[in-house]
Amino acid sequence: MEPSKSIIAISKLNKSFGENHVLRDFDMSLAPGENLVILGKSGSGKSVLIKCIIKLIDADSGDIMVLDHDISMMDQDEMDLLRKDIGFLFQSNALYDSMTVRENLEFPLRRHWTKEQRESQAEEAVMEALEDVGLSHTVNMMPAELSGGMRKRIALARTLILKPKVILYDEPTTGLDPITAREISELMISIQKKYKASSVIISHDMNCIRMTSNRVITLIEGRNYVADTYENLMKNTDPKVSEFFR
Ligand SMILES: Nc1ncnc2c1ncn2[C@@H]1O[C@H](COP(=O)(O)OP(=O)(O)O)[C@@H](O)[C@H]1O
Ligand SMILES: [Mg+2]
Repeated sequence: MEPSKSIIAISKLNKSFGENHVLRDFDMSLAPGENLVILGKSGSGKSVLIKCIIKLIDADSGDIMVLDHDISMMDQDEMDLLRKDIGFLFQSNALYDSMTVRENLEFPLRRHWTKEQRESQAEEAVMEALEDVGLSHTVNMMPAELSGGMRKRIALARTLILKPKVILYDEPTTGLDPITAREISELMISIQKKYKASSVIISHDMNCIRMTSNRVITLIEGRNYVADTYENLMKNTDPKVSEFFR
């Protein structure tokens, strides 16, 4: 098969829950190294889209190619392997409260690394990921001892530890104060540079979008309504688009 130029390519994706037709012939593609934002109102299907991309939920119809794999054809074991290359930052950080920061970061290694690899390389990997998010000093702390912004950074470090090729961010700045949100956005930019990762960023935080996006897709009524740069979208006079900028 000819390798495609897209990291993720989705065409005519449909997903309903009963009568609720959430995604309707949704199309998108993610280019190598790109930070692509999906902008949509609350309840518009952004999280559903991300869950379809990692097959946490099954699409009703449509094609989803991730790193040149047609995920509809893949079983659980094959998806587990693919997920090693896909970092997913959940909306809730989903840290384990009973584990230290170190143990939280080591957790993904249990599934994806051998025992020998973990014994020889885990500590170095943990410390590198923590340095990337500026929190080396928290390695022995418990999540409850950290602020919301710090927990978000730890969750991000846990995503980075497997050196993912694609990172999916679900509302990375929602619920954070403006200064902390800005720090997280800056971190996302530095991660894009350092890891050369390609990212899908779900957000309705206009500051985060302005800072991090190379391109923005507006998810409106289940469709890819407009895809453009932030600067161009800002000038778009379509009421459905311009209302995001009010
Ligand atoms: N597992 C599910 N079962 C039924 N409905 C769901 C499920 N997940 C999401 N939905 C519905 O799909 C729509 C989109 O949800 P979601 O993707 O979470 O929105 P958001 O854009 O805020 O992330 C909402 O109407 C939500 O109620
Ligand atoms: Mg959501």
